[in-house]
Amino acid sequence: MARVILGVSAGIAAYKSASLLRLLREAGHRVRVIPTADALRFVGEPTWAALSGEPVATDVWTAVDEVAHVRLGQSADLVIVAPATADLLARAAAGMSGDLLTATLLTARCPVVLAPAMHTEMWEHPATTANVALLRKRGAIVIDPASGRLTGADTGPGRLPDPEELFAVVQALLARLIPAGNTVLAGNTVPAGNTVLAAGTVPAAASLAGRRVVISAGGTREELDPVRFLGNWSTGKQGYALARSAALRGAEVTVVAANVELPDPAGARVVRVVSARDMHAAMLAEAGIADAVVMTAAVADFRPVARSDSKIKKDGSQPDPIALTENPDILHDLAGRRAREGQEGQVVVGFAAETDPDPQAAQAKLARKGCDLLVVNPVGNGRGFGSADNEAVVYSREGSQTPIPRGSKEALAEVVWDLVAARLR
Ligand code: CTP
Repeated sequence: MARVILGVSAGIAAYKSASLLRLLREAGHRVRVIPTADALRFVGEPTWAALSGEPVATDVWTAVDEVAHVRLGQSADLVIVAPATADLLARAAAGMSGDLLTATLLTARCPVVLAPAMHTEMWEHPATTANVALLRKRGAIVIDPASGRLTGADTGPGRLPDPEELFAVVQALLARLIPAGNTVLAGNTVPAGNTVLAAGTVPAAASLAGRRVVISAGGTREELDPVRFLGNWSTGKQGYALARSAALRGAEVTVVAANVELPDPAGARVVRVVSARDMHAAMLAEAGIADAVVMTAAVADFRPVARSDSKIKKDGSQPDPIALTENPDILHDLAGRRAREGQEGQVVVGFAAETDPDPQAAQAKLARKGCDLLVVNPVGNGRGFGSADNEAVVYSREGSQTPIPRGSKEALAEVVWDLVAARLR
């Protein structure tokens, strides 16, 4: 349970924040909504009050005896502004405090997350770019908007990430702030020994600011005919958790997603692929500029020798309908590319889902693939694919083993990035 402030500025995406509010409340958090006055043109005060169970004000003149413009910011564990309009970003960057939301942003000493949403032209305007850079320099977490359909028919960067993604961001930050198992409640001090992340970011040593990372996620599909494919159970959850976590550490994140049906991870660019060969091409193209490459995707080792143009019949007219040929090994080729192109500093990470994990086999697989780290996680019997939890042992090229106990896929992602950040230093 944490004390969260949900700031809402005047963008059409304000309606999505009603869902975010619900998710936060269902997770047990106490949420105070602070809309700007104009935001109420999109979603009215009764909606925020009813869903949050808390009073709603936009100005500093309501309940003056409580000195809300100072108290709310001071006592919050996390502030998230969604959507953050160009106007709100400008006022926050200038340190203005004319309404309750901007005053709260000035008094908050907890992590502040800003989720911009606006038309592409406004997002790309040099004024907005400069405001975002300044806010980030001061420690705010600004989530790059998603690309996609905006109001009306136009598309481009400027969309608010889906509420589920913003919720995941809040949960990830709160988990960093108040480690699991710790009973510290909202508003109280975290005991010494725990990192209180004043700016809401990770310690400098684990930061990925200025780094570019490329992550593959999901499961490839190999078409047999126009209606059938060979596939696997991978959902992309672990890859998306890694993407979200890297974005929150300041990295520029690209996800190469094979058949993932989850909302795009907040702050990441998503390149969609279907087959192993598509993924091979996309990963090698993206890897050229990356500081770290992580292969979480479940890649089909084999594909049909030929894809039939018509539906395969069982009448025997195609005698061996699923004759297979081997796919390229993407991880192996990524490690090879790095050596060939003199990018020795790039960190290459593989994942291996095994039904019977074995340290010797893991180390041998790591060597065969040529990667720096191999995250081996047990699958089967309710573990791994599709589940919210994961556990693993991370093997390194140097022979070390880092066990990651069973926990959320987000928690596993944090350990992987800690190990990657240490190698990048
Ligand atoms: N991988 C890949 N390209 C392939 C197969 C796997 O890049 N054609 C990557 C996966 O994304 C993963 C790692 O290699 O990061 C290990 O995958 P795994 O299936 O365990 O490796 P395989 O080489 O297929 O070994 P096995 O024979 O045990 O299945």
